[in-house]
Amino acid sequence: MVEFASVIRGVGGYLPERILTNEDLSKMVDTTDDWITARTGIRKRHIAADGQTTSDLGAEAARRAMKAAGVGPDDIDLIVVATATPDYTFPATATVVQNKLGITRGAAFDLQAVCSGFVYAIATADNFLARGQFERALVIGAETFSRILDWSDRSTCVLFGDGAGAVVLERQTKAEAGERGVKGIHLRSDGRYRDLLYVDGGPSTTQTVGHLRMVGNQVFKHAVGKISDSVRAATADAGLQISDIDWFVPHQANQRILSAVAERLGLEEHKVVSTVAEHGNTSAASVPLALAAAIEDGRVKQGDLVLIEAIGGGLTWGSALIRM
Ligand code: UT7
Repeated sequence: MVEFASVIRGVGGYLPERILTNEDLSKMVDTTDDWITARTGIRKRHIAADGQTTSDLGAEAARRAMKAAGVGPDDIDLIVVATATPDYTFPATATVVQNKLGITRGAAFDLQAVCSGFVYAIATADNFLARGQFERALVIGAETFSRILDWSDRSTCVLFGDGAGAVVLERQTKAEAGERGVKGIHLRSDGRYRDLLYVDGGPSTTQTVGHLRMVGNQVFKHAVGKISDSVRAATADAGLQISDIDWFVPHQANQRILSAVAERLGLEEHKVVSTVAEHGNTSAASVPLALAAAIEDGRVKQGDLVLIEAIGGGLTWGSALIRM
């Protein structure tokens, strides 16, 4: 049997034009730029324009990833969109993206693991490609969290923003891929922690979209411990050491979480890719947005070992090691 590797061919990110600064927020709720910067590291977030949907953001990020990969619509046969803010209850945002990109082959579906969605989606696509079932996947994290925020709740509305990121993940034989590809994966969830981070609405409960609710300081505590354990597990799964990691590309929720996890794992600060100041927590979009930024500025190069991780509502969490 031929063994396959899933290789990242191209990465793209997209942030909507409209910017909301900490200063702007201080005029909307009882908060300050100082509090938000000191507690989270966030300086601004992007907000989708009226009528601009999650599929619009996702399609634009996908176009950029496809351009970077040098592939066209006929080259893609799998689309996985990680999102907690779909355009509609159904059909899947992935099929809307598929249509917007002019892709008519293969399969497209959504994946719901909230902020961990992109890590889950990489793991899912990797499994399909490894089985030889599809050839080239678009793995997209896209969110319009501005649409589910309670804009009167200062403890949550200052944290999140809109955006999308995407990668083209390609099946290659081990001989073609060499050392490149997804190397190790660790996924976890624990539904007992549902009340720490959830949306208080949905089609089957309230027949409304609902608003995001979070017990932030408790999620914070879970985040540092669970992510550190997950990274160790993914690294062991890959047969690698933490010291082998070239770049740590974490979920961008809070600068203090990024730094605490890096410190716990003994990862040097200069290896941590942080874009949280620029766009806040964009949920499933944050990891591919950070990866796109670090590739664009020349930090992450082919051959580098990249660690991605995230934690989100569920709770769900996980990490993956990828040789670029
Ligand atoms: O992506 C999914 C995963 N989510 C996360 O990773 C988020 C994890 N949590 C966090 O990032 C942090 O817990 C927060 C940034 C949400 C909050 O920071 P914290 O240091 O844990 O603060 P806290 O929740 O313990 O609140 C401290 C104080 C409270 O006031 P009192 O009770 O001490 O008087 C809050 O009411 O800060 C107050 N506060 C604010 N003050 C000014 C909460 N939000 C604000 C605000 N502006 N926006």
